[in-house]
Order: sequence, then C-alpha cells, then structure tokens
Amino acid sequence: MTATDFDVESIRKDFPILSQKVYGKPLIYFDNAATSQKPQAVIDSLVKYYSEYNANIHRGVHYLSQKASIAYDDVRTKVQRFVNAETDKEIVFVRGTTEGINLVASSYGRKNIAAGDEVLISAMEHHSNIVPWQLLCEEKGAILKIIPMNDKGEIIFEEFEKLLNARTKFISIVYISNSLGTINPVKKIIAKAHEYGIPVLVDAAQAVAHLQVDVQDLDCDFMAFSSHKMLGPTGTGVLYGKMKLLEDMPPYQGGGDMIRSVSFEKTTYNDVPFKFEAGTPNVADVIAFGAAIDYLSNLNHATIESYEKELLNYVTEQLSEIKELKIIGTAKDKAGVVSFILEGINAMDAGMYLDTLGIAVRTGQHCTEPAMDFFKIPGTIRASFLFYNTKDEIDALVEGVKKAIKLLK
Ligand code: ALA
Repeated sequence: MTATDFDVESIRKDFPILSQKVYGKPLIYFDNAATSQKPQAVIDSLVKYYSEYNANIHRGVHYLSQKASIAYDDVRTKVQRFVNAETDKEIVFVRGTTEGINLVASSYGRKNIAAGDEVLISAMEHHSNIVPWQLLCEEKGAILKIIPMNDKGEIIFEEFEKLLNARTKFISIVYISNSLGTINPVKKIIAKAHEYGIPVLVDAAQAVAHLQVDVQDLDCDFMAFSSHKMLGPTGTGVLYGKMKLLEDMPPYQGGGDMIRSVSFEKTTYNDVPFKFEAGTPNVADVIAFGAAIDYLSNLNHATIESYEKELLNYVTEQLSEIKELKIIGTAKDKAGVVSFILEGINAMDAGMYLDTLGIAVRTGQHCTEPAMDFFKIPGTIRASFLFYNTKDEIDALVEGVKKAIKLLK
C-alpha cells in the first residue's frame, strides 16, 4: 500500500473525538505534539478494566488481581517488541517522558556524575530534558554543556564532536524536536558518544508515534517516551534502559513492590524493572497503553511515515507561499510539526482566531524557551500532525492563517 492509497477516512472512524464539531465547525486537531487523540480500542480498554477487573496487581491471590496483573505485565512485552528491546525487563513503567528523564538524572546521575564532569544536551531540548540535568549539575558541581544548532534548527555535528572529552559523562538528546520538528541523527550521535564510552539517553516523546523506533539498532543506553503521544492514555510512559545500566542503578523512589525484604535495619530491593516501580502502578492506563500499541502495530509503519511526510511537505509548500509567514525550523529531516510566526501578529492571537474556526494549534514557547531565544522570538504557532489528519484540514489551516493575517494585522 502506498501513501496515496492510505484510507485516512476509515482510520478517522476509529477516533470518536475527531468527528465532533466545536463552535459549530468540524474539529481540526493539529495539536498532536501536545497529545494524540485516542482510538475507540483504547477507550474501550479503560472502560473494560474498570467495569470488569479493576484490582491491585502483584499483591492479590484473587481472580481479579491475577487477571489485572497478567494484563499489566503483558504490556511490558508489547512495549519490548514495539521498540525492539532485548528483554521486557528493560522496560520500566513511569508517568511519562518527564519522569523517565528525571529517574535517570536522579538515579544514574547521582551515582555516576561528580564535580567537574560534563553533561551534554542540545540547544533544542524540551524543558523536561534541561531542568533535571540542571538540578543534577547544581547538586554535584557538574557542568551542563549545550550542543549548538544552526538557523535551520539542525544540530551542528562538528560542534558536538568538539564538545566530547574525558570529562563528558552523559548525553541526553531529543529524537524529534517538539517545537521545530527536526529529526536528530541520534544513531550517529550515539555511535560517536560510544567511541568515548559515554552513555546516551534519547528523549523519544515525539518520535514513537511517527518513526519505527528500534533501541537495539540505535544502541541507545536509555530512551524515554509517553503513552499519551502515541494514542494511549496520559499518566503512563516508559523508560527503556540497557539491563546492565538499570541493574547498577540505585532505586529512584521507595515503597511497595520495589523491595524484596524490609526490616528496620536493612531493606533489599526487587529485581529490575520492579526496583523502579514503587507503589501501586497506573494499572488501567498501562493496560490501555497496550491497546494503543496493538493499534499502532496493526498499521503499516512505512505507509504511515510516507503519508505523514506527504502532509508535512504539503503544509510546508502551502504556508511558504504566504509572504507574511516565516517557518521556524527548516531542517532537512523533519517530522510531524510545522512551527511559524506571522509578521506583526502575536502568536496567541492567531491561535485564538484559528480556534474560532475549529482549528486546534498550540502557540507560545512549547516548553522550549531556550530554542525560542535562539531564534529571537517569543514563540510560534505550531501545527502538529498525525496520520489521521488530512490535506483538506491543511487547506482549512492555510485559509485560516490567511484570514488571520487580514483580520489581525
Ligand atoms: N511537550 C508537549 C508539547 O510539545 C506538551 O506540546
């Protein structure tokens, strides 16, 4: 099946929210980088869990608990297969990408980063891949270094290479930028980092719904991503880590399920991944996340990727013809996102106007304030896409932007 044969209308029927009207106009949802919409299978999974087998897991001898435990543990295997991890023990359930990164900074970072060491991140990171490292560096007296980007929003690889030295102890890098859409050459970055023995964490929050992600092929040491950006519920996500690294890391939080034995004198910890999953987990959402993975796995990834590429090329061509509009983030390799500013028009005003037309976009800094500072702008209007979007919706966005220019300028 080619992208042109892709039956988007039948896909859209799986997402009940997409057929509604807002302010009497058909909803056009272009805020997928913030969160994706959910297929009926995910919604049904939540309802079924709470109506039929809600129970605490790994604790009960009773029927419901065992059923819920099996369903929860199955999702670990689904995730393992989805990202091609070597074993499902390398999959730690967390609240989302942010918690995954914080877990690594707190646990791996506190153990392995010392005064004078250097941690590298890039100039286009989301705040969630900046602040945990700042906190760690402040605590340890380590130094946070920034891999620069060019004015297209691409990492300057030669500058990255120059930053590597014996003091560099960790690299944390975004796969696809949420505000610029840049796809970073993470495989090349990881290979270079490994020449120096430096571990790399990949923030794959925006990547998992768009690209076929393979942790073994990338050879990343850690990867964090969120369920809600890949059709699943909010409140759950994944930290992938190589087994050896996870085993050597101290626990992140203490509580039930993460222990083997507790006494007032000494506590011993459970095996990976349970060592990192203290307390009652988010059972319902993890199980529904499994339904999202099933849904994504049933789609043809190559077709989805080329259909989304077609949408991105189309919107880029259409918007580029508007002379008052400037696209921010023009990397050669992009996915999912077009960010732009309008001459003399506040991004939020434009976003609010588009909203009156039923078009949902995000405006502002997109939690990437340093990237906005780099472009010397207060923020952008961002339209972000998924495979259920259509060219007709893009035509409506383009018309809406033209009207906003006429009205607001
Ligand atoms: N990180 C999300 C976004 O880009 C919230 O909108």
